[in-house]
Amino acid sequence: MTFERDAEDAPDAQAGHAWLETAVAESAVAAEVREGASGAWAVVTSVGRHEPVAVRAVSRDTGLPVPVVAAVCGELRARGVLARERPVQLTPRGRAAIAPLMRLRALPASGAAGGASAHLVPPGLEALAEQLEQVAAAVPDADVRIDQTHCTVATKLRRALLLLEAGALTRAPLLLLGDDDLVSVALALVTRHVGLPEAMAQATVLDVDERVLGFIERELTALGAPAAELVRHDVRAPLPSALAGRFGHVATDPPYTLAGARLFTARAVSALRPGADGRLLLSFAAKDPDTALALDRLLVEQGLSTRALHRGFNEYVGAGILGGVSDLRELGATADTKPAIAGAYEGDLYTGESAPRTRRYRCMACDAVHVVGSDEAWETIQELKAAGCPACGETRFQPLARAER
Ligand SMILES: C[S@@+](CC[C@H](N)C(=O)[O-])C[C@H]1O[C@@H](n2cnc3c(N)ncnc32)[C@H](O)[C@@H]1O
Repeated sequence: MTFERDAEDAPDAQAGHAWLETAVAESAVAAEVREGASGAWAVVTSVGRHEPVAVRAVSRDTGLPVPVVAAVCGELRARGVLARERPVQLTPRGRAAIAPLMRLRALPASGAAGGASAHLVPPGLEALAEQLEQVAAAVPDADVRIDQTHCTVATKLRRALLLLEAGALTRAPLLLLGDDDLVSVALALVTRHVGLPEAMAQATVLDVDERVLGFIERELTALGAPAAELVRHDVRAPLPSALAGRFGHVATDPPYTLAGARLFTARAVSALRPGADGRLLLSFAAKDPDTALALDRLLVEQGLSTRALHRGFNEYVGAGILGGVSDLRELGATADTKPAIAGAYEGDLYTGESAPRTRRYRCMACDAVHVVGSDEAWETIQELKAAGCPACGETRFQPLARAER
């Protein structure tokens, strides 16, 4: 069979991708990769980015041992994904199948994310960013009582890209455990952009906030995206059994407390399929050494290994307590992965439960600053908006960043 005929056999991006997924899954089994299909997938995407490339370089890039990379490459060659030529390179069919995802770059080429680059919209996605900016402007106000704080549009897109690069949606179903950040909408835009719109059928969004779920449902419908599964659930209760053990990827940005990190990661672990294939993207700001250590401990306690740490990956709009940024951890499941909390949780969870929390808002008409919080005249921004600015009656307000407080 020639490569040209192979390429003709793949009529569109969806079909090409389905063929690639099967080949990757089979190769992982045949080569006995301990990381499962996610390990073989890492090899394919590394080759896609760097071809022609030496096995040793793919090993360095993926963190997989050289013999494992060599074995996976052998299996991928047998299935027509990789060419016989050395150094390692894709066949035209393999290249065509992976091309949509190779157009995505969540991180700079060096792999060193964060810092000054964190605010950047991924190249080529400027038009999507504008579209998403309009959607984000209409999102329900952040409910600070449950630690909602919206991340920036660039962060929404970068998270979506990181997930897709890891094979979320295309290779394995994805659970967004809380999504006031609208990563689901970013994913719908990006999957359509790269010709894989059907992938959205593999997305599930769980949230306690009906406003968030209703908004996402309307936006996905307006985009013509396949219906994602939307589940209203409070994670203080165990996951509904239909969600347990079902997902290859989970992404979550828990409340900003260690109790929040522990509970949300525990539910995320419960949602992952058994085995070492699962991936968890955890956004959290560990701002001091004690918190950082406690976070490491609760991850190790649950058998999660840190595969990558992207410092300052997430930027938030007016997130005072985080100083505007948090880190994103790519965590891998292991044979020892088990949730720290299996039953119902009844302890404290949110920042405001351990310390009274206030937020300042500037009136967009007269610049007067008003304090909103549990012991203030307005408990939430919704209440301030309903009442209007006491100075001028305006109903639009801007949250103040930490530096302005
Ligand atoms: C805790 S907030 C963290 C803030 C972060 N910047 C974000 O926006 O993702 C993240 C999401 O978790 C949801 N959430 C908060 N408490 C929850 C709970 N008990 N059960 C399920 N979802 C919850 C929020 O509605 C929000 O969508």
